[in-house]
Amino acid sequence: MEIANGFEASSIEKAIQFLAAGEVVAFPTETVYGLGADALNPYAVAKIFEAKNRPHFDPLIVHISEKDWVFRYAEHVPSSALKLVEIFWPGPLTVILQRKAIIPDIVTAGLPTVAMRMPSHVVALQLINAFRKPIAAPSANPFGYMSPTKAGHVARMLKGRIPMLLDGGDSVFGIESTIVSFQEGGVYIHRHGAISEEELSEHVEITADREQDALCRSPGELPYHYAPAKPLKIIHSMDEIKTDNSSFLAFRAPERPSISRHMKILSEAGDLKEAAANFFSSLIELDREDIDIIYAERVPEVGIGRAIMERLRKASKKRSLLHGR
Ligand code: TXA
Ligand code: MG
Repeated sequence: MEIANGFEASSIEKAIQFLAAGEVVAFPTETVYGLGADALNPYAVAKIFEAKNRPHFDPLIVHISEKDWVFRYAEHVPSSALKLVEIFWPGPLTVILQRKAIIPDIVTAGLPTVAMRMPSHVVALQLINAFRKPIAAPSANPFGYMSPTKAGHVARMLKGRIPMLLDGGDSVFGIESTIVSFQEGGVYIHRHGAISEEELSEHVEITADREQDALCRSPGELPYHYAPAKPLKIIHSMDEIKTDNSSFLAFRAPERPSISRHMKILSEAGDLKEAAANFFSSLIELDREDIDIIYAERVPEVGIGRAIMERLRKASKKRSLLHGR
């Protein structure tokens, strides 16, 4: 795998050559690293699924570099979608819209909808701009594993599986985009992410009701996801830590030493944004230690804390599903 400095024009040039040849390229975004391919080339997109071992029923997000491109790929863009796009793009908001036929089935897993976002990371924008075509990209991790927030994570996770990686530094949000769809009753949040429910609700009505029609079906919303290889247990207090042969993912600086052999603190002062930025990288490091279990302290479920807890719950579910509990 060639690892290149994404801020250099020659690296973007090289990446575009790979994309044009139907290859995949890993690139930085402000949320997490993505694994991109030409969104309009089904053979190229198939290579994403191959490199990640991702099941084909899990649709991809189409990344664009100009707001106007939504009209190229989506039909009937509701006014609330336009409003959110005006406010939050470029940035970590993904909108689900009715798709146009030009988007290949493999991108949307056959759904009548397409998920789109315009990232704000300068390397991502330059890449898409220079390519002049949309780039389909999931997070650049093997399926079910945690999302990479550093170029080094991608290099380790997808070693030997992809030809090129653009290094654009650490992802500033550290957690994936917020995914929304537009329903009769308001905006429905499919995945909590880097833009909080509170921020969205300043501009649109949020609904908890999800219409059960084909438009909002989301086969990718699996009950387990984002999971470390080691079992993970969410705890309220350090008293629940039963073994020193463990890793402890603390939300804030603990009041007393933990018995866990390894510990990461998401934010000394308990700041949720800082915690989100450190979330995946801390969990990835703790998972690499030779331990039996990861204990994760719960975080307050407000703002971006909801996104953190959504990921922790899915990470903890994997084990119970595997063990049939
Ligand atoms: O921040 C992000 O969103 C990152 C960066 C790389 O942009 N991407 C990302 O992609 O997290 P991925 O594939 O790991 O997660 C995208 C999720 C999937 O779980 C999928 O189910 C959902 O988006 N999705 C994609 N298209 C959809 C659609 N048409 N309807 C419902 N859900 C969709
Ligand atoms: Mg992902």
